[in-house]
Amino acid sequence: MTEREEYITPGGRRRWSAPGRVNLIGEHTDYNDGLVLPIAIPLVVTCEGVRHADDLVRVVSRQRPGEPVRLPAAALATERDLLPGWARYPLGVVAEFGRRGHEIAGLELDFDGAVPAGAGLSSSAALCCAAAVAVRDLCAPEVGDRELIDIARAAENDYVGAPTGILDQAASILCTAGHALYLDVRAFGAADSGGFEQIPFDLAATGLRLLVIDTGQTHEHAAGGYGARRAECAAAAAALGVASLRDIDDAGQLSGLTDPVLYRRARHVLSENDRVRTVAELLRSGADPREIGPLLDAGHDSLRADFEVSTEVLDAAVDAARTAGAYGSRMVGGGFGGSIIALVDTAAAGRVEREVRESLASKGFPDARTIEAVAGPGAGPVDPGGRVPG
Ligand code: GLA
Repeated sequence: MTEREEYITPGGRRRWSAPGRVNLIGEHTDYNDGLVLPIAIPLVVTCEGVRHADDLVRVVSRQRPGEPVRLPAAALATERDLLPGWARYPLGVVAEFGRRGHEIAGLELDFDGAVPAGAGLSSSAALCCAAAVAVRDLCAPEVGDRELIDIARAAENDYVGAPTGILDQAASILCTAGHALYLDVRAFGAADSGGFEQIPFDLAATGLRLLVIDTGQTHEHAAGGYGARRAECAAAAAALGVASLRDIDDAGQLSGLTDPVLYRRARHVLSENDRVRTVAELLRSGADPREIGPLLDAGHDSLRADFEVSTEVLDAAVDAARTAGAYGSRMVGGGFGGSIIALVDTAAAGRVEREVRESLASKGFPDARTIEAVAGPGAGPVDPGGRVPG
């Protein structure tokens, strides 16, 4: 019996889970071949799966009970536009395995997700990665983690049509409990192994908590602003005559950009990569994590002023968290809505959370909700008792 087969439930069904993420720092750097530093959060999507001896693929979600999908595996490539929106994520993963030559017929996958959608916490990557680990174990156990990340990203980019980078999928697959994942996207893409590092991240040991406050203002990545920012970064790189903004080492080189918008976009990417390097170095060296606070603040200010992906609601939440005594606070994820993080003393957490909520309510913004971000494990099999091994 292999390690994974131990987790077969009595009905022959097996379970997997994949987490959402928050990025400590390193926003809009992934598709510029840059640096990111996410942790996995304890909110996950679970997938229960089994194989049947037929040619069908079936997916169902507890959150969308009225929208189950059942279709022949051979129709995945042609029926995409007829599928309910949620089902395109897991079926995109199944289709991508099929496109790469794996036998994917006779699959049944049932999903149950606790990562709020549109909150900037990577619910779609959690859904794709839960599907990806399940399909790997059921159909293609030879697929390694790198390819799995690529499959989950291709499902979002090509099947769903959301032009994301690899931050979310890499975080969901590679993160480990108690660590932040330092990922150099360029090095990761170029190497057969390596390109990332697990950096110990244990805030409780120093009397700190990382609050994730979901403002309730949702975003949609398949539409609008995110793709526009990607295009602006590509245009800035082209104007500078480089393949990607990662090729620029020094902000002085940006003086070649005459378009003020492209200049600010590129300046964000460069300064954000520097912040990732500095935060990673502070954590690696065992510094007091309070020292990363000003870098979180600077990251938000750059996303607001240079990259222009923050919103009034996110800015108000960040301002309220700082006023309430957070060491640092910033929006997380792609922006245009979603969540903020706030680094706070454990003793002050309840007060900061309350003051942010009250401040948003007083301005007539949606109800905010808070989760605590403890660095959890990445995707994998779950035993019948619900425990994630390792
Ligand atoms: C979204 C995308 C990621 C990344 C972030 C911004 O979450 O899915 O690839 O670009 O935005 O850092």
